[in-house]
Amino acid sequence: MQIGIPRERAAGETRVAVTPETAKKLKAQGHVLRVERGAGLAASVTDEAYEAAGCEIVDPTAALGAELVLKVRAPAADELPLMKPGTALVGMLNPFDRDGLAALAAAGLTSFALEAAPRTTRAQSMDVLSSQANIAGYKAVMIAADRYQRFFPMLMTAAGTVKAARVVVLGVGVAGLQAIATAKRLGAVIEASDVRPSVKEQVESLGAKFIDVPYETAEEKEAAEGVGGYAKPMPPSWLARQQVEVAKRVAQADVVITTALIPGRAAPVLVTEDMVKSMKPGSVIVDIAAPAGGNCPLTEPGQTVIKHGVTLVGETNLPALVAADASALYARNVLDFLKLVLTKEGAFHVPLDDDIVAACRVTQDGQVTRA
Ligand code: NAI
Repeated sequence: MQIGIPRERAAGETRVAVTPETAKKLKAQGHVLRVERGAGLAASVTDEAYEAAGCEIVDPTAALGAELVLKVRAPAADELPLMKPGTALVGMLNPFDRDGLAALAAAGLTSFALEAAPRTTRAQSMDVLSSQANIAGYKAVMIAADRYQRFFPMLMTAAGTVKAARVVVLGVGVAGLQAIATAKRLGAVIEASDVRPSVKEQVESLGAKFIDVPYETAEEKEAAEGVGGYAKPMPPSWLARQQVEVAKRVAQADVVITTALIPGRAAPVLVTEDMVKSMKPGSVIVDIAAPAGGNCPLTEPGQTVIKHGVTLVGETNLPALVAADASALYARNVLDFLKLVLTKEGAFHVPLDDDIVAACRVTQDGQVTRA
């Protein structure tokens, strides 16, 4: 099978869907790999490195004209006409973007959005949300440490003692857990909040304190348990009590990392303008939920701004700022997914009795197939 790897064109996108490591494995399976010239440069992978792994370096038309195209982000409007009807496409295609999916269907593509994979044990090795959120959590803390004008660790020096930074992490999924672990390594004192009660133990095992907001009704408890490992919107009664508890911690925090997301919906507001006003000058908020509108209404997605003396970081593609490792992990996710849709003989097939393939398939035969 001819496999094309185009250069990503989205603004700020530095990642690439195949690395020399995964290219060698695909090549060993008998596939022909056509990598667009410069596709890996922003992730520190040279054309020579791809050539050494057995790839052909080609122009965009040849990369997008392959039978199977591997991408990070959905193809742009000017890329779609270069893809033939019937082409298979694998990427992070944003399964909640109905218009985007309609465009892929209209182009006749058989496409797979890897974000739609179920959160099951078998799907873990191809879970792009996890591999990339882990990086976002790490990078958010790195950016916070860089923007914050004080130390993270407690220091006792001849010139006096420096207090440890107080970090509050709101939303403890994959990104939040990595943010806690990273801030802990830097010596911060950390508190964290999530709607799901199951994360309390994970937070404590990383050496952070869980901000407990007890459930008072069966409805609150049921919403907190969520579906398929994801959060559901919480009842207003619980959110109001959570806000009181969070507000107290945020007022004392030096750094707040927010990661709370509800798939397919706008991010919940967890840090209000009043809470930002209550923070000390020089405090930093990194809003990982910025791509979904942000957990703070003052966040400006894509920008870093200072409001009420607080720096608000609204980076919308944190994994792209760790381009080499983000690509390495993403490329392995892609390679694992391909095992489900490529036969040993190297042919492409769509086994719809496979729950991962069925969940990821978003378009085929001119139709949007995602419910
Ligand atoms: P996410 O990125 O969708 O959301 C981030 C976090 O925000 C979640 O923990 C969510 O509960 C929390 N949140 C939502 N609304 C909130 C609010 N109002 N206040 C505070 N927190 C709020 O979540 P992510 O990181 O994708 O993980 C979701 C779950 O799936 C986690 O439990 C994770 O451990 C689990 N998971 C399971 C996998 C598997 O079994 N294969 C693989 C990956 C994740």
